Amino acid sequence: MSVILAIESSCDDTSVAICNNGKITANVIANQTIHQNYGGVIPELASRVHQQNIVPAVQQALVNANVTKQDINAVAFTRGPGLLGSLLVGVSFAKSFALALNVPLISVNHMHAHILAHFIDDPKPSFPFLCLTVSGGHTQIVLVKDYFDMEIVGETLDDAAGEAFDKTAKLMALPYPGGPLIDKHAKLGNPQAFKFAEPQIADLNFSFSGFKTSILYFIRKQEQQNANFIAENLDDICASVQHSIVQILLNKLKKAAKQYNIKEIAIAGGVSANSGLRDGLQKTADELGWNIYIPAFQYCTDNAGMIAIAGYQKYLKKDFVGQDVSPMARMEF
Ligand code: KG4
Ligand code: ZN
Repeated sequence: MSVILAIESSCDDTSVAICNNGKITANVIANQTIHQNYGGVIPELASRVHQQNIVPAVQQALVNANVTKQDINAVAFTRGPGLLGSLLVGVSFAKSFALALNVPLISVNHMHAHILAHFIDDPKPSFPFLCLTVSGGHTQIVLVKDYFDMEIVGETLDDAAGEAFDKTAKLMALPYPGGPLIDKHAKLGNPQAFKFAEPQIADLNFSFSGFKTSILYFIRKQEQQNANFIAENLDDICASVQHSIVQILLNKLKKAAKQYNIKEIAIAGGVSANSGLRDGLQKTADELGWNIYIPAFQYCTDNAGMIAIAGYQKYLKKDFVGQDVSPMARMEF
């Protein structure tokens, strides 16, 4: 029997989850809306809001899971990678809570957890599988051989896919985070309206910084002829940008699947909530006979449910850490 309380605070969402015998019975996510005023996450503000949110989020998670503090057998937390100040709030809270309850502490790598979110609901992928992890800070193709035996086989050389969405959205004066808004407008637009060149990057790696600049120049050029270009074409621009990013991601994923001869394919991270990516992946799977795995929306973007399920796997192995553990903004994969 095990009840694990998990804390996630790597960026701008404060999240607390409970895993009861391998089942997620609570996943509370307190979003921070304050960053919308600034067009991106302000680290200092994020830490302060985590500080305000964390205790109420823990209390709510206990209520939702119908357990008490005394039922908790271990506390799992995100050690990194992420914003140091944000991580410090979660790590300090987890350490104090575990100390007060006299239970073990479990350290979780945020990027592993995005992938292990696939072990929350059925169907679960079987090993080995490939996972495209696409978030605001990372774009990776990972060969997953076992729960904690993973190898990055391709990654971005500059911006992440989520940044490509968010920065393009910013060019169009859409508020942060722009990814979900691009998705919303894309549903109403024509994905073939405008063409953007696919970056030519070797192997299984990605690059999005040149792509973003090409969109900036394209918009500037159009605006010289029509000052209202964005307003009049917003849906078509969003649909075209989304289509291009999805094609870049899927083309590399196809290449990886072929290279490793694997048909078990998963996507993870905030951008895996994107409807264009989900539809594109389904079409590719139909063509190539892939078995695909897409997390439920609440487990795509940052959440403690994924930390709790990763923590559960470590709990089974008694893989604990001591009170001297500290957060790591950059954490080895
Ligand atoms: O995994 P996540 O919540 O946080 C990080 O660890 O970075 O990912 C956040 C990223 C943001 O860039 C956000 O714009 C993007 O995921 N995102 C989306 C969608 N939902 C979230 N991008 C495109 N379409 C969406 N529906
Ligand atoms: Zn994340």
